[in-house]
Amino acid sequence: MTTPPAPLWLAKNPRAKRDLPFGRDQQFVVNPNGIPELLEELGQCPAHRVTPLHALPGLAGRLGVGEVRVKDESQRFGFGAFKALGGVIAVYNVLSGAVGNAYHSQTTFAALMRNEHPEVTADYVFTTASSGNHGRSVAAGAKLFGNRCVIFLPKFTSADKEAAIRARGAEVIRVNGDYDTAVAECRKQAEANGWTIISDTSWEGYDSIPRSVMRGYTVLVEEIIQQWRPGPTHVFVQAGVGGLAAAVFGYLWARYEPRPTFIVVEPESADCWFQSNLAGKPALASGNADTVMGGLACREISPVTWPVIGLAADWFMTIEEDGVLPARRLFAKPMPSDSGETDPAITSGPSGCAGLAGLLRACTDDSAFKALGLGKGSRVLLINSEGDLGEPLA
Ligand SMILES: Cc1ncc(COP(=O)(O)O)c(C=O)c1O
Repeated sequence: MTTPPAPLWLAKNPRAKRDLPFGRDQQFVVNPNGIPELLEELGQCPAHRVTPLHALPGLAGRLGVGEVRVKDESQRFGFGAFKALGGVIAVYNVLSGAVGNAYHSQTTFAALMRNEHPEVTADYVFTTASSGNHGRSVAAGAKLFGNRCVIFLPKFTSADKEAAIRARGAEVIRVNGDYDTAVAECRKQAEANGWTIISDTSWEGYDSIPRSVMRGYTVLVEEIIQQWRPGPTHVFVQAGVGGLAAAVFGYLWARYEPRPTFIVVEPESADCWFQSNLAGKPALASGNADTVMGGLACREISPVTWPVIGLAADWFMTIEEDGVLPARRLFAKPMPSDSGETDPAITSGPSGCAGLAGLLRACTDDSAFKALGLGKGSRVLLINSEGDLGEPLA
């Protein structure tokens, strides 16, 4: 019997080789060393809790896979998104690096929170462009360590997200355009004012801080490894610029032998990774990134992540806008398993549930299900990357 061709919204990565070792080029992007220690250090932050990894046996049974587990980042730092890890850790790294340079000694998270070195740290002003979540995280990091913060938001970011950023003490500047316009304005003003950009995306000559941001994200992956043995066989991760996917794929690649199958999920109109895979190098999205999935509304990838995602993602897929609400509802109103127990209810936002929307699409298309090697033996990992931040569910 011949296998039907994969649908057009699903593309294999011709560069991905499952036996390729995690090498120096990958370690430059996502350094797996010291992450358990970083997780321990985060314990000094009073708001820090390990987030839950929910098992969804009812959903797994309905989809015909062995297990589905969801890392629930809606609970991160009481903040509502995985992004909390990136901005906070990157701000911490800048300040601790500055103290290290000044005194040739190491400082700690707790010491910086106590503002022990104001002569070194107080003048730092942190800034970033954001579709909302990352800006909130940078604002939270700046607030934690007592620094001024200025966040540039695109036109489409919701008023609730803006309010959440302001609530963390940051100033907000709205640009009359999309995310990329906000990035350009942020870069211009940072250069003019001597502010430190904490960006989650990289560009030519700027990759150290985006790598710090990804180092923050790897903490959630270390938690998953500690929470789940033997771990996943399939990992669906939603991508904007690719920082989250690079951290998840890179860290699991470094830690697991054999590594799981990695699948990148994107909105149709913001398919910069899908297009980059087809082109074999970083490429622009085919659409205008006009999507309800605000966190994924990116037209360009973060180039520093290419050596990880470009070689490790086995498949790239897109989802339709119509796939978002059913996925959010499914998380919110879960189903009973065969044993009669009901899956836990999970609160998600439009970008948060995108991995689930991808899994649902793959499981309701025979050829995609087969191409991805899904079945009763599969253990699927999803990441609910954000909770409900005010987007309506009905
Ligand atoms: C909720 C949410 N999920 C996923 C992503 C995608 O992350 P990245 O841009 O690192 O690919 C973002 C980015 O802002 C986000 O806010």
